Amino acid sequence: MKIGIDKIGFFTPNLYLDMNQLALNREVEPEKFTIGIGQEKMAVSPITQDPVTLAANAALKILNDDDKSDIDLVMFGTESGIDHSKSAGVYVHHLLGLNSSARTVELKQACYGATAALQLAKGHIALNPESKVLVLASDIARYGLQTSGEATQGAGAVAMLISANPKIMTLEDKSTYLTADIMDFWRPTYSEEAFVDGKYSNEQYINFFQKVWQQYKKETELRLEDFTAICYHLPYTKMGLKALRTVIEDGSKETQERLLDNFEISKTYNKNVGNIYTGSLYLSLLSLLEHQANLESGDRIGLYSYGSGAVGEFFSGILQPCFKDYLQKEAHEKLLTSRKELSVSEYEEVFLKTLPIDGSTVELDVGQDPAEICVAGIKGHMRQYINKKQ
Ligand code: HMG
Repeated sequence: MKIGIDKIGFFTPNLYLDMNQLALNREVEPEKFTIGIGQEKMAVSPITQDPVTLAANAALKILNDDDKSDIDLVMFGTESGIDHSKSAGVYVHHLLGLNSSARTVELKQACYGATAALQLAKGHIALNPESKVLVLASDIARYGLQTSGEATQGAGAVAMLISANPKIMTLEDKSTYLTADIMDFWRPTYSEEAFVDGKYSNEQYINFFQKVWQQYKKETELRLEDFTAICYHLPYTKMGLKALRTVIEDGSKETQERLLDNFEISKTYNKNVGNIYTGSLYLSLLSLLEHQANLESGDRIGLYSYGSGAVGEFFSGILQPCFKDYLQKEAHEKLLTSRKELSVSEYEEVFLKTLPIDGSTVELDVGQDPAEICVAGIKGHMRQYINKKQ
């Protein structure tokens, strides 16, 4: 049975910071951020967006009424969960008006959570071919002002509908994965910001990539030649390129050129949004699908997922006939071009304005946020969500 991505969309908040401005303010050469790190703009999340609203806004744009009644499993991958107990997916389930006969759960393993969800969805659909599964990947990446990770922050969500006979991409059966207990990046429950050993995290990302790729080659006998493109988890866009460069010489000249060209295209959205953790790999896939005009039905796309701590996985998908008819390129580009640029001091103000953690009541002005679904405040220790169109 063919199982895979039937629909895919993304959402990012309406505010951004230009990396050149950040570099000037932090007294760093702009090329360090734009070339060395490979980022042009960084999404900044206002207080009226959180991982729940980002995911709900992403899903809103791809689901029709039939999907909403057919979805029987919602899996929410995030590492910026808002509650130790209740799944962020349950809020989204309500905000979208999904069928109550559904399972809903949150999954966590750093940036890997959504890949786990995708693979579990595949198994669920193999047993229940009529089922549709909503996979959400939503995060706000925060390292703190004036930290070395600052240039690799971002915010956004990707929503994917997984089904049998998908319209966009089938997932191939074989995938290779690896787990090892390492401390490259983590966020203790008492901290709003992540702790990271930057250089070590880069090394481990590449180390995991090489191991899962070698294993994948061994188990499938596929080679670089068999891939039209390889998409990477992109904590910052240069990271994926560094990993690709470690294996690229195994391919012919033509393959090398194709994979490098397609890598450039696969970072289109990511370089303008920043790290969105669980959604980054899928934002890269979306960048490729919506910007590479030469892609064809039957093309094989490789996908490398990495979640610090750490789990890595290499898997692949095959593009389906007419997949281009089911993408939302115009809407996604409009989302990015209609954003408001912040100065560095405005960004710092937005960054420091966080929801209270002492149980106090707060009412937020959602009028400044064009998103349909927003956080309207906190009352009685409960986040208040609003859908402006309802
Ligand atoms: P840094 O120490 O500020 O930067 O940290 P650097 O000194 O390593 O410089 C970065 C690059 O810019 C270097 O290139 C420089 O040469 C270059 P490289 O040698 O690496 O190719 N550079 C310049 N290039 C052009 N013109 C110039 C110039 N100056 C310097 N003038 C670091 C960078 C990424 C480590 C930091 O931002 C950080 O710690 N970020 C967070 C951690 C991270 O993103 N790790 C990635 C792998 S782990 C992962 O992907 C998981 C994650 O998503 C979390 C999860 O799973 O949940 C993070």
